[in-house]
Amino acid sequence: MNNLKNKQILLGITGGIAAYKSADLVRRLIEQDAEVQVVMTETATKFISTLTLEALSGKSVYVVHDAMAHIDLARWADMVLIAPATANFLANLTYGHANDLLSTLCLATAAPIGIAPAMNQQMWHAAITQENCQKLQQRGVTIFGPAIGSQACGDVGAGRMLESVDLVDALQLFFQPKVLKAKKILITAGPTREHIDPVRFISNRSSGKMGYAIAEAASAAGADVTLISGPVCLSPPAGIETISINSAQDMYEAVMAHIKNTYFFISTAAVSDYRPIEQAKQKIKKTATTLQINLEPTPDILASVSKLEKPPFTVGFAAETNNLVEYAKKKLAAKKLDMIAANQVGIEGLGFDSEENALSIFWKDGGLELARANKKILARQLIEVITERFNS
Ligand code: PMT
Repeated sequence: MNNLKNKQILLGITGGIAAYKSADLVRRLIEQDAEVQVVMTETATKFISTLTLEALSGKSVYVVHDAMAHIDLARWADMVLIAPATANFLANLTYGHANDLLSTLCLATAAPIGIAPAMNQQMWHAAITQENCQKLQQRGVTIFGPAIGSQACGDVGAGRMLESVDLVDALQLFFQPKVLKAKKILITAGPTREHIDPVRFISNRSSGKMGYAIAEAASAAGADVTLISGPVCLSPPAGIETISINSAQDMYEAVMAHIKNTYFFISTAAVSDYRPIEQAKQKIKKTATTLQINLEPTPDILASVSKLEKPPFTVGFAAETNNLVEYAKKKLAAKKLDMIAANQVGIEGLGFDSEENALSIFWKDGGLELARANKKILARQLIEVITERFNS
């Protein structure tokens, strides 16, 4: 579902070098069938011309007060998004200043306000900027980003405006219908590590991207999400309780400790099926001969959850290099699942450690295909399918 279709986005642009990114943002929002009305501060017009934004948005750009413009625009918006938002604008917003059209309409609107900060990393980390952001968040303002990276001034750090593609993703999540309001969901993600000795382990290529995207989509749909994650390089998603674990045994224990009163369990993690029977206490020394490591099965977390006396709606994943449909359906039945999402692995660019994926979804007497797409898009689609199945 495209959550931005027909949404009326009032895009406020303030005076920073990142204003050039706003042109691309307007284009991408319009591609998503949103309506965009641009309002700029005087300083912003020195960084990017009104003509560019008018051409892209198909609407006149407002800069100065125009009779009742601030009231009309404030009422029109489904969301006021300030991107980029300078440190100065953040301060103005925090203290309720109304010294130009954009700050005035922020005061006059009942629509949600989102800001995408863009500033030098030192300014972003300044205590007063952080304090202002906290105050704004407490008043319900949503802060998107900032991103970390190299900056126009030559510094490297946090303070870059999010790329427009990431902002559009964030807005898609923001407008996700709250169909899972207050429902408790437990999600596993990432790989597990089964230690052979203190420095070596058995693991796999799971990056956690699929599971983290599902956690974010579920949270955006209003769910109360707990994410149990193996070792990954991703930051814990904002507003989601994230529990870090290492081994399959750790994951099993964490899942069992949190499963009570859960409506949905989604097992995206690539859990190791086997672990060494014994873990060497010290680093195993190289010898001239072959080395044998004896393995035993790990607990099957998914099957243990579906076996509970009152199991949640249980969704498994199947990662297969061949016979995708056959093996996935077997796992659906063997593990007594409500649903399974099967993905082909072993193909570059899909499945493990990639931005994109494609899912074949099965339940007892049906199924559907989710075509190749970015994992964030697939995650939103999967949450919709799970909700529909659960309600039916
Ligand atoms: O993390 P990414 O890089 O984004 O990649 C995503 C993914 C490919 C890892 C993901 O989409 C995926 O397919 N996850 C499941 C991988 C897997 O372990 O599949 P499986 O077919 O071996 O296991 C079947 C199901 O049983 C899975 O839901 C798994 O979480 C669960 N399981 C497996 C073993 C075990 N001991 N306990 C389990 O709960």
